[in-house]
Amino acid sequence: MSSITVVPAPVSLTSRGGDPFRLDAASRINAAGGAAAVGEYLAGLLRPRTGFALPVDAGADDAADAAGIRLTLDPAASAAAPDGYTLRSGADGITITAASAAGLFHGVQTLRQLFPAAIEAPLGGDTGAAGGDWVAPAVLITDAPRFAYRGAMLDVARNVFSVAEVTRYIDTIALLKLNHLHLHLSDDQGWRLQIDSWPRLTEIGSSTSVLGGGGFFTKADYAEIVAHAASRFVTIVPEIDLPGHTNAALASYAELNIGGVATSTYRGTEVGISTVDTTAEATWRFVEDVVREVAEMTPGPYLHLGGDESLTLSAEDFARFVARASRVGAASGKTVIGWHEMGQSGDLAPGTVGQYWDYLVPRADAAAHTLSFVEQGGSVILSPADVSYLDIHYPDSDRLGQDWADGPTSVEQAYSWDPAAIVPGLPEESVLGVEAAIWTETMLGIEDVEVMAFPRIVAVAEIAWSPAPAGTPSAAPDAAERSFAEFSPRLTAFAERLDALGIRYHRTALA
Ligand code: ACM
Repeated sequence: MSSITVVPAPVSLTSRGGDPFRLDAASRINAAGGAAAVGEYLAGLLRPRTGFALPVDAGADDAADAAGIRLTLDPAASAAAPDGYTLRSGADGITITAASAAGLFHGVQTLRQLFPAAIEAPLGGDTGAAGGDWVAPAVLITDAPRFAYRGAMLDVARNVFSVAEVTRYIDTIALLKLNHLHLHLSDDQGWRLQIDSWPRLTEIGSSTSVLGGGGFFTKADYAEIVAHAASRFVTIVPEIDLPGHTNAALASYAELNIGGVATSTYRGTEVGISTVDTTAEATWRFVEDVVREVAEMTPGPYLHLGGDESLTLSAEDFARFVARASRVGAASGKTVIGWHEMGQSGDLAPGTVGQYWDYLVPRADAAAHTLSFVEQGGSVILSPADVSYLDIHYPDSDRLGQDWADGPTSVEQAYSWDPAAIVPGLPEESVLGVEAAIWTETMLGIEDVEVMAFPRIVAVAEIAWSPAPAGTPSAAPDAAERSFAEFSPRLTAFAERLDALGIRYHRTALA
């Protein structure tokens, strides 16, 4: 079995013995009804390198498809956790069964890892047929995620990223069964989303970035990102950071400033330097208009309203601001997410989700603020900075990334933690999930982002998806220890797939 490597590790993988499945020129994909789109997606993955036609039969199953790949939606599979699937492969065919199309999609991510890495064609690149013996071993896999929210965050405020770069990042995170992309859309250095009711946000606030020029997503761009994400079963989580990290807005509109004078645009990398005037009537018109427009263009359930590093406001003014902002967010119909500092308020909209970004050993105030979300009916996303902030240097990196957060951070560190063992008193059922964040002050372009994210993001994705390991409160009686020695060869095997896909990664980080 040691030659079968899958990341994130599935709940169970057993060899069935017998001959493997062999994909050939006669193979077909059967994907009826709600499975059809995933079937087309799978065919799109497998056609370029194999050169096979791989027709997708969207009608009822028939015997002629017996030796092909069958994707089956089965409501009875709903006894399994949402997003779960079973995969059975052998000489007689491959069947993936799930209760939802998302489950089938995750099963497809596992299936591609059963074939040789050379079956992968470069993302957005050359797609000539490679030739090969396209076999997948005979296995039975049952799988379901540990956490419902498995996220990546991309900071598109500090530097500018194109729609193509963001959709490429969506494709790369979807490989790992991550299902949320949090876009950090506004900060001191740039405002990156068209807001019709406050046009100077993009006329002025988008004109700067840390390393390059300006730019922003139009509403059409954003719709394209949202639609591409949906096709990969990824939900876009937009963040408008408030009340700090707002210099780009403050430079755009004088009336948002304490004192009523617009600031200059900012290209530096200090944090905690800005705040909106939390008592100005204009600020609340701004918050309500921006929240309304962002909510209208976002089909997903979440709206992130920031709340981090508001270092120039008094604790009372900050708590009053985030309480009211969370209620504006909730009134838009969305579930509000805030960085853990938002938990300083005990008067948040019920159900507001906290995002923890302190360390594996929390400082007392960060732990208390995080638990405050649970006390107010919410849950928590864990992004401990010393293991899941992917912009922190690797042990041997220098040009890209930053040094704070107890860095550098190795792949082993990114793998060696558990979400249910960080904040004392935070039970597993209050953990909505895990998110790997990447801040881009030092990164120009998606190549830089990929090199910082990969391979550490694979480690974080496994923590988000795979079963609770032995030694954690929610572990099954027969759970295995989380072992970097066991993970490391699977990661090395996955890197061959990254090579085939043309996804950059920090090569010296592999054992
Ligand atoms: C953060 O890193 N300021 C959330």
